[in-house]
Amino acid sequence: MEIYQPSDDSHLFANFLKKYLKFHKITSYLDLGTGTGTLSKTALKFLPPKNILASDINPNAIKALQKEKFQTIQSNLFQNIPSKFDLITFNAPYLPLDPREPKSSQLATTGGKHGDEITLKFLKQAKQYLTPNGKIFLLISSLTPTDKIKKLWPYKVVARKKIFMEELLILEFN
Ligand SMILES: C[S@@+](CC[C@H](N)C(=O)[O-])C[C@H]1O[C@@H](n2cnc3c(N)ncnc32)[C@H](O)[C@@H]1O
Repeated sequence: MEIYQPSDDSHLFANFLKKYLKFHKITSYLDLGTGTGTLSKTALKFLPPKNILASDINPNAIKALQKEKFQTIQSNLFQNIPSKFDLITFNAPYLPLDPREPKSSQLATTGGKHGDEITLKFLKQAKQYLTPNGKIFLLISSLTPTDKIKKLWPYKVVARKKIFMEELLILEFN
């Protein structure tokens, strides 16, 4: 399985996270769908490594992060996640299925037939993994359907960036 290489979405998210952590005291952080660990590496400047957990469904991604100082765990969404967190981020696979895309990269990019399926699954499970004042930042795109997401858990758009034919959005859930 290919490891997702940092792209526009990763950079937008890392910049946003850096600004957020500069002004907000967070004790525990879960970087779900960590890929190459861009967001966990950003968080290292603000949190002790033992309080950062980087997780991905892709075992190759987790193997490649083994020498990093932060904690790592292979997990399908929250399946192997052991505790609650003040902050959870997920740069989700958010695109609708494109059958022309190779299977090896679909895991990182495709959210399901419509694009919102993994996000909806993630949000349904996530509530149980947040501390009382915990917060989620989730990255999706203007190509991801949002009707069901909004209905499940209303959100605020906290960052956006236009790229080619789509717009990237970071959503905040409290
Ligand atoms: C768009 S990439 C983002 C990677 C990285 N966070 C970044 O910003 O560069 C999505 C990541 O989510 C992971 N992923 C996909 N489905 C997942 C699932 N069910 N549970 C955990 N991680 C998943 C993929 O393997 C991939 O690394």
